[in-house]
Amino acid sequence: MVSGKIIERNAEGDKFWIAEENLASLTGNEPAAGLVYNRLLPMFSQHYKQAIKMAKETTDEKMPEEKHIEQSHGHEHGHQHGHGHGHHHGGHGDNHAEAYPLMELLSKTTYKKHLIPDFLPLLGLREKLENGGMEVLDVGCGTGFHICEFAREFPKCSFTGIDISENAIKRANEVAKEMNLNNVKFEVISGEKMPDEWTKKYNWVFSWNSIHDHKHPKVAINEISRVVAADGRYTMLEINKPGNPNDYGTSPMSTFWAVAGIFTVLTVRRAPEVFKWTNAAAIEMLKESGFSNVQTVKTPFFDFNVLFVCTK
Ligand SMILES: C[S@@+](CC[C@H](N)C(=O)[O-])C[C@H]1O[C@@H](n2cnc3c(N)ncnc32)[C@H](O)[C@@H]1O
Repeated sequence: MVSGKIIERNAEGDKFWIAEENLASLTGNEPAAGLVYNRLLPMFSQHYKQAIKMAKETTDEKMPEEKHIEQSHGHEHGHQHGHGHGHHHGGHGDNHAEAYPLMELLSKTTYKKHLIPDFLPLLGLREKLENGGMEVLDVGCGTGFHICEFAREFPKCSFTGIDISENAIKRANEVAKEMNLNNVKFEVISGEKMPDEWTKKYNWVFSWNSIHDHKHPKVAINEISRVVAADGRYTMLEINKPGNPNDYGTSPMSTFWAVAGIFTVLTVRRAPEVFKWTNAAAIEMLKESGFSNVQTVKTPFFDFNVLFVCTK
């Protein structure tokens, strides 16, 4: 605890205390992100043995049979799964199960202080959003933290959040209610199959760490391209994965997700597509879907992410 700078101690080693300036990070409503990340470890580690087993049996063409997992891993039912940087189970399509409170906390602790002051200016949309009348869609909104923050900032626009998880949407509705927002609504809809009548409906579509988490990212991107208005914009916040692994950020979070993701991608999410995710692959998918202008924007305040700003 002392070497982790969580508590302090005197030279003799017989007195221990928490520094005043650390109290809020340790005990407040929004603890330090590093502390929240550690809480994911027990969730991930329960998949460790199964992940190794499945890694041995998985080839490029083939995932081991679903049946095989149920038989050998039935005892995992009802356990928690980690934050979304890669965890889906089959069933109802809700692989975050009881982990949503933790996912919400992670999003808040990682992003809240930067969302409006640092992130928003990168989108080039502030004036339009302030003027109002924009239809905004968040694909894979989880518990709705980002979209609710934007909805509060821009009361004259209409916001819609979709997620495949019923649990997440249930919580998102609660969050909107707690914040007294009446310009945001949520629906259980897959990003890979949005309603036909949404074609060209949205002036701004965004996704936040969610496309790499879709089972078929390319399908989701094609759907997003369909629902963006001709003069609209899609902003995709994603994990930063330059083609050359030597160029990866050195953020502890990149390292954390690189390791932790392996446990759940094979066992829970069963979608090894994510291993192929790179910035270049993302840009290719975006261009193929019809976005002719795709800009890669660095987000140094979220050091393991990168932003793609896309127009038709
Ligand atoms: C890492 S979480 C991010 C959630 C939220 N955007 C945030 O940043 O807090 C990824 C989300 O993508 C959702 N997701 C995965 N596949 C999806 C699909 N096909 N359609 C809609 N949402 C999906 C998951 O349920 C999960 O809530």
